[in-house]
Amino acid sequence: MFLLFCGSTPAATVESHGWMAHPCRSSDVGKLSVAALPPSQLPPAKNDLGTVCSNMPSSARQLDQHDPLSRFRSEFHLPPGKIYFDGNSLGLLCRQAEDAVLKALQQWKSLAIEGWTDEEADWFHLVERIADQLCRIVQAPANSITLAGSTTLHLHQMLATLYRREDQRCGILIDGSAFPTDRYAAVSFLQSLGRDPAQCLIEVPRDSSGYLQEQDVIRALQTKVQMAVLPSVVFTSGQLLNLQQITTAARDNDVRICWDCSHSVGVVPLDLTELQPDAAIWCTYKYLNGGPGAVAAMFLHPRWHDLSPGLAGWFGCEKSRQFQMEEQLVPAEGAGRLQLGTPHILSLAALSGSLRTIEDAGIPELRRKSLQLTAFLRELIQQQFGTTGFQIATPDEDERRGGHLAIRHPRARAISSILRQRGFVPDFREPDLIRLAPAPLYTQFADCELIIAAIREILDSDLDLTQSPAQQVT
Ligand SMILES: Cc1ncc(COP(=O)(O)O)c(C=O)c1O
Repeated sequence: MFLLFCGSTPAATVESHGWMAHPCRSSDVGKLSVAALPPSQLPPAKNDLGTVCSNMPSSARQLDQHDPLSRFRSEFHLPPGKIYFDGNSLGLLCRQAEDAVLKALQQWKSLAIEGWTDEEADWFHLVERIADQLCRIVQAPANSITLAGSTTLHLHQMLATLYRREDQRCGILIDGSAFPTDRYAAVSFLQSLGRDPAQCLIEVPRDSSGYLQEQDVIRALQTKVQMAVLPSVVFTSGQLLNLQQITTAARDNDVRICWDCSHSVGVVPLDLTELQPDAAIWCTYKYLNGGPGAVAAMFLHPRWHDLSPGLAGWFGCEKSRQFQMEEQLVPAEGAGRLQLGTPHILSLAALSGSLRTIEDAGIPELRRKSLQLTAFLRELIQQQFGTTGFQIATPDEDERRGGHLAIRHPRARAISSILRQRGFVPDFREPDLIRLAPAPLYTQFADCELIIAAIREILDSDLDLTQSPAQQVT
């Protein structure tokens, strides 16, 4: 259904990334177009975008042909007629996840309550089996990960478990533009202790370019802070922080640190054994493709495995004793003690399947392609829009970039909305940010060309971009 017209990346650009040389004639360079849409939906062409060079492979096409992960695309259910760039909000369904859910339903049908104890279904240990998969994915020591509920709930659990009530330093450090749930959780936790968030919530501001500077974070760690909750990758800009530098500084200042890794697990390599943070939390519905509202994960460093859970529930019990129904909780070994109630088996089933796909692909390979995709998008944007209109809001350096590329434009809301009407799925964040998340398991380089061409056509059209449609919810 989609035809890719001529590629856009000049040979020099491609070569600078060590990719294939661009085979198009030099006169074709810079021409981009899409045939993804019925002609009636396209604005009248004001320039020469319609030039077809379908007999010449584009750089995107070559990159796709040589992509070692290309076989995974057919493992996913791609929404029909859409080009999807929203895997940082909700990853797509893969066949292994689908099969695992269908199997769990079948087990429920045939085994009913015995699904908990049946040797094969073994729902009773499903959390532990998934935690083992995650330990491999984020290189964490055995028994240091568990899954209970949402990321938000896990943050409450970490605050309740790790915050020292007797410490003179009351402060919880957060990113001044943190994802709202992290802020809400920290504020309500402080309030529950009778502490004043105005005094105890310490915020690190972004710099004038909108980035968090590690040195600012480290300075703030030396104040009245005893705990820090920070994003590994900032949800707006896609900035990847220097986790090692900040974690080391936190330890040097006796500050307990909890990383919110929602935007990194599955796309950015993490080695929690080496990093040694006190805690980490992350959702599993983004790059891990666990499904809408999938059960989140949490990591607790082994040095805290003897702490009592701040929030306790019967599934945090030592497993062999859980059904003795004792009055006193005997906590499980390791992070398992942070579990709460009955695990969400159907949701966990999807996650167990999707993690198999992630492990098949391998995190280093996913990161390699992800960096290529975001660099490719950046090159296309710079080439197509130069300095007019768009500002790239994501750091250029590979070591400072997570899995998505963010671009600012005063008309971002309208552009994003028109893109959606035309079958492209980016996401929009107030007031002027479009986030493009090429998921390395299923996004093609050709998709990057198509979405940038679509944006170019919108900007070149006579459409009134001052009319702001209602906000999209994603
Ligand atoms: C950084 C970050 N933390 C937390 C969440 C969401 O938490 P929850 O799983 O509780 O909805 C998101 C969701 O997008 C996020 O981006």
